[in-house]
Amino acid sequence: MPVISFASSKGGAGKTTSAIILACELAEGANVVVIDADPARRLSRWSTLASLPKRVEVVTSAGERTIQDEIAAGRARASFVLIDLEGAASRLNSFAICESDLVIVPTGDEQQDADEAIETLAQVAMEGRARRREIEAAVLFTRTNAAVKSKLEKHINGELRAAVRTFATELNRRTAFSSLHNAGGGLRQLDRGEVSGIDKAIANAEAFAAEVVDMLEETHHAAVA
Ligand SMILES: Nc1ncnc2c1ncn2[C@@H]1O[C@H](COP(=O)(O)OP(=O)(O)O)[C@@H](O)[C@H]1O
Ligand SMILES: [Mg+2]
Repeated sequence: MPVISFASSKGGAGKTTSAIILACELAEGANVVVIDADPARRLSRWSTLASLPKRVEVVTSAGERTIQDEIAAGRARASFVLIDLEGAASRLNSFAICESDLVIVPTGDEQQDADEAIETLAQVAMEGRARRREIEAAVLFTRTNAAVKSKLEKHINGELRAAVRTFATELNRRTAFSSLHNAGGGLRQLDRGEVSGIDKAIANAEAFAAEVVDMLEETHHAAVA
C-alpha cells in the first residue's frame, strides 16, 4: 500500500492541485486515502465543495503527533495513501517523508522554482540518510505551458531534467485543473458547459497517474531484486 507525499519547500508549487488530480485518477480503479497535512487545509476545503469521487477519502491530519498513525490507518484500508504537505520544513513533513515510498516535488519552470525543487530533494535525501534508506523522489513540472515553451523555460526545464529524476509528464497549466478548487470533485464531474479543455486535462492526468504507478513498480522491483 504505497504512500506518496507531495512536498516542496514553498507554497504555490502545485502540491495540493497535483495531489487532488492524482487521487481522483488513481480512484478510477483503487481506494485512495488522501491526508491533508497542511495547516492551510486547502485540500480539506476542496473535499467539502462537491461529492467526492467514489473510492476517494480525505482525512484532515490532526498534526505531527498523529500523522504516523493516520498514515498507518490509511495504509490499512486503501491501496494508495497520498499526503499533501505544507510548503515548509517541519517535523510533520519529516515524519511523512520518512513514511513515503515516493515523494513528488512539484515545480514550475522558472529558475527560482528549479532551485526550490533541488533544495526539497536535498531535504528528502537528508531524511533518507537519517533513516538509513533511500527515499525515492521525483520532480513534477506543473503549471507549464501546454503549447510552446520559451527558450528560457526550455533551458531551465532541460537542466533540471538532466540533473534529477523527473516525471516525463508535465501537469500543464489548465483551467480544468485550477477550477477543481472552485467546483470540488474530480475532472470528470466538471461542468462541460462551464469549463473548457476537460478531455485534454483528463488525458494529462491519466498520463501522470500511469507514470506514478510505473515508478512505484520499478522501485518495488528494485527493492526485492
Ligand atoms: N496544473 C495547474 N494548472 C492550473 N493551475 C494550477 C495548476 N497547479 C496549480 N495551479 C494553481 O496554482 C495555485 C497554487 O497551487 P497549489 O496546488 O495550491 O500549490 P501548493 O499546494 O503547492 O501551495 C492554485 O491556485 C492552483 O489552482
Ligand atoms: Mg497546498
